[in-house]
Amino acid sequence: MTVTARTREWWKHAVVYQIYPASFCDSNGDGVGDLPGITSKLDYISSLGANVIWICPMYDSPQVDMGYDISNYEDVYRPYGTLQDMEHLIRETHARGMRIMLDLVINHTSDQHAWFKESRSSKTNAKRDWYIWRPAKYASDGSRLPPNNWRCNFGGGSVWEWDEASQEYYLHLFCKEQPDLNWENPATRKAIYESSMEFWLERGVDGFRIDTVNMYSKPPGLPDAPITDPAAEYQPAGMIYCNGPRMHEFLGEMNDILSRYNAITVGELPHTPDMARVLKYVSAEAKQLNMVFQFDVVDTGFGKTHKYETTPRNYTLPQLKDAIERTQSLIRGTDAWTTVFMENHDQARSVSRFTDDSPSLRVQGAKMLSMLQCCLSGTQYVYQGQEIGAVNAPKDSYPIENYLDVDSYLFMDMVKARHGADNTAELDKAFDALQHLARDHSRIPISWSGKYKNGGFSEIAEKAGKPVADSWMKPHPLAKEINVASQVDDPSSVLSFWKEMLRFRQEHVSHLVYGDYEGFRTSDPNVHYFAKTAPGADSQVFVVLNFTSEEQKWELPHPREGGLPATSPLSLKMLKSTHGGADETGLLAPFEGRIFMVS
Ligand code: GLC
Ligand code: CA
Repeated sequence: MTVTARTREWWKHAVVYQIYPASFCDSNGDGVGDLPGITSKLDYISSLGANVIWICPMYDSPQVDMGYDISNYEDVYRPYGTLQDMEHLIRETHARGMRIMLDLVINHTSDQHAWFKESRSSKTNAKRDWYIWRPAKYASDGSRLPPNNWRCNFGGGSVWEWDEASQEYYLHLFCKEQPDLNWENPATRKAIYESSMEFWLERGVDGFRIDTVNMYSKPPGLPDAPITDPAAEYQPAGMIYCNGPRMHEFLGEMNDILSRYNAITVGELPHTPDMARVLKYVSAEAKQLNMVFQFDVVDTGFGKTHKYETTPRNYTLPQLKDAIERTQSLIRGTDAWTTVFMENHDQARSVSRFTDDSPSLRVQGAKMLSMLQCCLSGTQYVYQGQEIGAVNAPKDSYPIENYLDVDSYLFMDMVKARHGADNTAELDKAFDALQHLARDHSRIPISWSGKYKNGGFSEIAEKAGKPVADSWMKPHPLAKEINVASQVDDPSSVLSFWKEMLRFRQEHVSHLVYGDYEGFRTSDPNVHYFAKTAPGADSQVFVVLNFTSEEQKWELPHPREGGLPATSPLSLKMLKSTHGGADETGLLAPFEGRIFMVS
């Protein structure tokens, strides 16, 4: 199918700001972020140029996986607030002309959810079948084995947990406290839709970010995964349990409900490198999801058998360009839509991963990545703290004990089990990987101001004279250097640059949001060159980004090279530079980016 003009929709040129409730803003001084804190920052979010907020799970939960283990979809985790606080937040968001998306986590619940408690109570309970229970297998020596060899998403253990009382295993693709729901049962599906979706749609939410959207339908027979990590007891199995045979039927059912409310959706789509598969989820014709998060870019540099079995910056620029190209190419010649993101609550900070986070370069690095993101097609997502150029917590000032994420400590446990708890070389290597890639970095409380306790995270309470407890995670060691207050009025700050870029993106919406991406000189290890072509326009936007900490020579692209027009000579007009310079040729400063109009 050839698409000459892409259908414009409000949500395609929207800017979504992602909020991690525990770490965004603590309004009452208990050291935990909360809903009134979010409400108090809506004007700030709007001032950035964002018009949608997505809030990570704020539901009732024992917080084993920070709210992705939900014990009640219809209530709020008390330290965050109440249902009334949510209703207030929804109203206040709408009052500013903004929209609100919640996180829909329905592949699994918490083991503390009433459904699971019933299911677990006995083999004959009416809800037994709401989760995935299987009998044990036995080895020839009589020892008990789990039903298959799948490895859990966190650490190195099995996805199966033995239930002593009822003498069966239950499936959990994530923590053992996150049992997988059985989507094969229509009564279960109906209950999920009512409790998790309709309850909130009725209260006015505008859409959902759908967690692990391709895992609901499990492959029949739950077959073993191939052995790809011979040293390990359990095998990575994402390619086996994702995208099962009934996925599209289930999404069709969900869509019947969602479309009644005009709700928008973005699905998280791990383990799906095949574009034809991705299209089945997001082509407009398929009517399944509005958009998905593909993992090409954020998985860059991950280890092959375990994401943390790697070393810092273990990738080349051509590999990163390739990943960007794959995600961008989803909309080329199709009716599908894509997303742009380099950070979220599951990723370390992009400045540290993709540029240089040392004090003299991190501002340039952050601006260059902002320019990159704002020039890519798809719905734009900005993660809290990204707009101030937050970096990973440094190794020497943020010890491993400060890392609280289950994904991090189960990885450390796995390394200890494999290499010995006293193998300091291996433990240090693991720490290096976590310092570079752990999810903890994006979960550190936001530094609103360098002048207050907890990096200003609890500033509102402190200013109101309330006692302020320590924040739930240790504050960022660089809170005094990198915070909102010091950037908000500084025109040369990362924050000001993000605002400028988001405005610029709207001014050039046909090229930057809706255009076709074409990378060229893709093997250049230092400089990223790409062009954006707007459907029907005879001009192009041309972007050049220096991904190194050295000056780099760059050359005017030759006509016919890559995606540029064949007319000669090219007229190149510089629209923007991260460094504000006027020089249109010659040298790029470290991490400098420039945007040109080519006609
Ligand atoms: C998704 C979430 C992640 C969570 C997991 C299990 O990947 O983004 O934070 O741990 O699902 O729900
Ligand atoms: Ca609080």
